[in-house]
Amino acid sequence: MARRPLVVGNWKMNGTRASAKALLADILAGLPTDARAEVGVCPPAVFIPEAAEALAGKPVLLGAQNVADQDEGAYTGEVSAPMLREFGCALAIVGHSERRLIYGESDKLIAARYGKAIAHGITPILCVGETLEQREQGSTFAVIDQQLGAVLEACGAASLRKAVIAYEPVWAIGTGRTATPEQAQEVHAYIRRQIAEREPEVAASLRILYGGSVKPDNAGALFGLPDVDGGLIGGASLDAKSFLSISLAA
Ligand code: PGA
Repeated sequence: MARRPLVVGNWKMNGTRASAKALLADILAGLPTDARAEVGVCPPAVFIPEAAEALAGKPVLLGAQNVADQDEGAYTGEVSAPMLREFGCALAIVGHSERRLIYGESDKLIAARYGKAIAHGITPILCVGETLEQREQGSTFAVIDQQLGAVLEACGAASLRKAVIAYEPVWAIGTGRTATPEQAQEVHAYIRRQIAEREPEVAASLRILYGGSVKPDNAGALFGLPDVDGGLIGGASLDAKSFLSISLAA
């Protein structure tokens, strides 16, 4: 089954109101109308309202970097899926390794965030991936099983019809160290097999993005792999030229 590639910029906690506006304008100006890949950006939450205005009717999807596990109420610091929907967010990253490792988000919490995104028509980008220590111990697949398993248990494999997975080896994020094409393909194929055992059709249409130091000069080799359907781009998404070049490689 043909899967349309998806390239999403994760801006993390970077930029100013002015730089966010300029970056969006440059992306919109440089993106060809016939780009093969679908393209999206996830700005910091406070920039979402202005980004929504800039992107209205444009072929760039708007996303959030996280989404609450509740719809409303006394949950200080959180932003809910209905709120994000009101501002036109189509995507939400969940379970990014920075959320898991720096902020201690559990598999269970991440599964609940994922479920709320799905329930409100936002496509979750579920991030999974092992640390360097886990890879060296040979537990990469066990880590993926656990991270993916929590979501499968809470929401079922069929829910992945409305989701995207991003494989992001933690040791490759922001380090300049990218997984080799062989390493990426091995894990992407593994993830697809796990889903295929439960829901073969969902597995065939599921987009699995690679993330971790994707740059213009390595994007082509990664995106050309059979089970890699685009990328989640951190550092290189803050520069319109790099981000566009990566998007066009998909
Ligand atoms: P990076 O980040 O491209 O800067 O490595 C990727 C990510 O964290 O999503």
